[in-house]
Amino acid sequence: MTSSSRRINKAVFPVAGLGTRFLPATKAQPKEMLPVVDKPLIQYAVEEAYAAGIRHMIFVTGRNKRAIEDHFDTAYELENELEAANKHALLALVKSIQPDDMVLSYVRQPRMLGLGHAVLCAEHLVGNEAFAVLLADDLMVGKPPVLAQMAQVFERTGGSVLAVQEVPQDQTKRYGIVVGDMVEDRLLKVNHMVEKPDPAVAPSRMGVAGRYILTPAVFEQIRQQKQGVGGEIQLTDGISGLMQSEWVYAWQYEGKRYDCGSKEGFLEATVELALQHPEVGVHFREYLRQLDI
Ligand code: UTP
Repeated sequence: MTSSSRRINKAVFPVAGLGTRFLPATKAQPKEMLPVVDKPLIQYAVEEAYAAGIRHMIFVTGRNKRAIEDHFDTAYELENELEAANKHALLALVKSIQPDDMVLSYVRQPRMLGLGHAVLCAEHLVGNEAFAVLLADDLMVGKPPVLAQMAQVFERTGGSVLAVQEVPQDQTKRYGIVVGDMVEDRLLKVNHMVEKPDPAVAPSRMGVAGRYILTPAVFEQIRQQKQGVGGEIQLTDGISGLMQSEWVYAWQYEGKRYDCGSKEGFLEATVELALQHPEVGVHFREYLRQLDI
């Protein structure tokens, strides 16, 4: 494999989930459109992919997800109004959501058969090349951005790369858990992966976060999976299949993850990103200081 064929050009965003942990907010709008301060979760994830050099964004959507398509589309009326009102900074902000060199594709997951199935729905758009998967409800903050860190690992190794972090023992049931050999600082070769194990039987505390770089062989592996934990076709099982014939790596990313699919994680992200926000940060810090808590 040459280094140019180790470029990641496409990112898949599975956004077909129901977001039941965020009801009632997600009854009629996608959870990926919930804003952290002033930007929807999905935009953070798309910007992370763009920063990793990816230009083709593929969304696996479902019912109730129209707002995501609209968000990344041109908003003629809004742009005309802003132009007429000489609000150039806001106009530039709105236009920056979809840079000219970004290509967007949408495919529907007709039935919610799990994350593995959602990824499989994008196969015809991805084709025979390695690609990234980003779960937008995991908001990742890193310098360089977490997916860019992983793209560098893929460039060096040519193998699939999973973002991992140590998770508390009592939370293993929320994650795919990997076991592997440390081959470099922060880099493991994965031997074994299990989806959402009970803390009592979890083989390690190395939990997978919602960022993956996968080789195209994973599609065939997902196709071969029977329904796994929770009656769903799990991405974890497809990746486990991949390990029979290829090296899969786990990268202990540098940065911070907010689980914005949960209320606690979403609130933590909101507070921390608001504190760093150039417009509201200073005031918000003062406001928090004077709270009687
Ligand atoms: P989650 O487990 O977070 O499910 O899926 P969810 O439905 O979005 O949220 P809750 O648990 O009901 O609150 C992880 C990711 O996989 C996508 C989801 O959109 C989310 O980004 N997904 C999951 C699909 O696209 N299709 C599926 O069939 C399942």
